[in-house]
Amino acid sequence: MANTIQRHHHITLCVAGAQQDYDFHTKVLSLKNVKKTALYDGTYPIRHMYYGNDLGEESTLVTCFPMQQSGRKGRRGTGQISVLSLAVPASSLGFWEKRFHDHGFDATKTERFGEKILKFQHPCGIDYELVGVVDDDRKPYSNGQVPAELGIRGTHGITVSTRELEAQEEFMSLGWNLRPVATDGKYSRYAFGEGDSGKIVDIEHEPGVPAGSWTFGGGTVHHCAFQVANFEVQDAVKGNLEALGFTDVSDRKDRGYFWSIYVRTPSGALFEATVSKPEGFLIDEPYENLGKSFQVPPVFADRKEQIIEFLDGEPLVY
Ligand SMILES: [Fe+2]
Repeated sequence: MANTIQRHHHITLCVAGAQQDYDFHTKVLSLKNVKKTALYDGTYPIRHMYYGNDLGEESTLVTCFPMQQSGRKGRRGTGQISVLSLAVPASSLGFWEKRFHDHGFDATKTERFGEKILKFQHPCGIDYELVGVVDDDRKPYSNGQVPAELGIRGTHGITVSTRELEAQEEFMSLGWNLRPVATDGKYSRYAFGEGDSGKIVDIEHEPGVPAGSWTFGGGTVHHCAFQVANFEVQDAVKGNLEALGFTDVSDRKDRGYFWSIYVRTPSGALFEATVSKPEGFLIDEPYENLGKSFQVPPVFADRKEQIIEFLDGEPLVY
């Protein structure tokens, strides 16, 4: 299983209002909106917003389903990803702390696994962290409201909340190419390769906390996607999981910009193994216009005008 799953690809959240989410990610966090589209599943359109660096490269991506129009709310709890941690230069944490306060957000300093952390929340309630790191060579968004040298580099880690440890730990080492690195109180850290930013999964053991919801519902993380190199590796990951007894791995799904398989992990958190398309987010619009106009998912192609009119029912100003 060496070098099968490499690092995070994207993390996907169910948020509340579309405008609130857009303003939070582009104006406060200074990420680029690299794609405006909709959820590829179901018959009811739900916006899908992608945020990341200039090109929306792997492990810089946070993607969001605004759920306000559907009226569906989720319950946070165990069996979910509970925290999204993003990497920033260690020297920028003071800048970010002041920026959050200036924008009316509570941000508190903490430390875990020896890393300096600024904790805050998405306006829909999902826990976020900025983690100060050095030597992160991922390129930040070059044209945001925050100077690039202080900007977010991409994901650092995710935290999975689980009631039971053993089965999840088994899955992560035997099925997901992660190795245990360290423990810190109720947290166990797992990593791919060298375990630098974008290659970390923390497990938070919370035996007494009720399970959260799995449906698309505002205020919860839906899943985390991890990058694999090609179909051959993706098939091998699926085959290995099936051989271990995880027969619920999905078929390969075309998500427009990448191909995905999904599996429900023993903790309850949903993981995805993702192969990027060579064209990435440039597959349906040129770089100069990236993220500027709504891209209708293929499943809704024959209802294009109707879908756009429906989503405009919750207008988005950008
Ligand atoms: Fe995904």
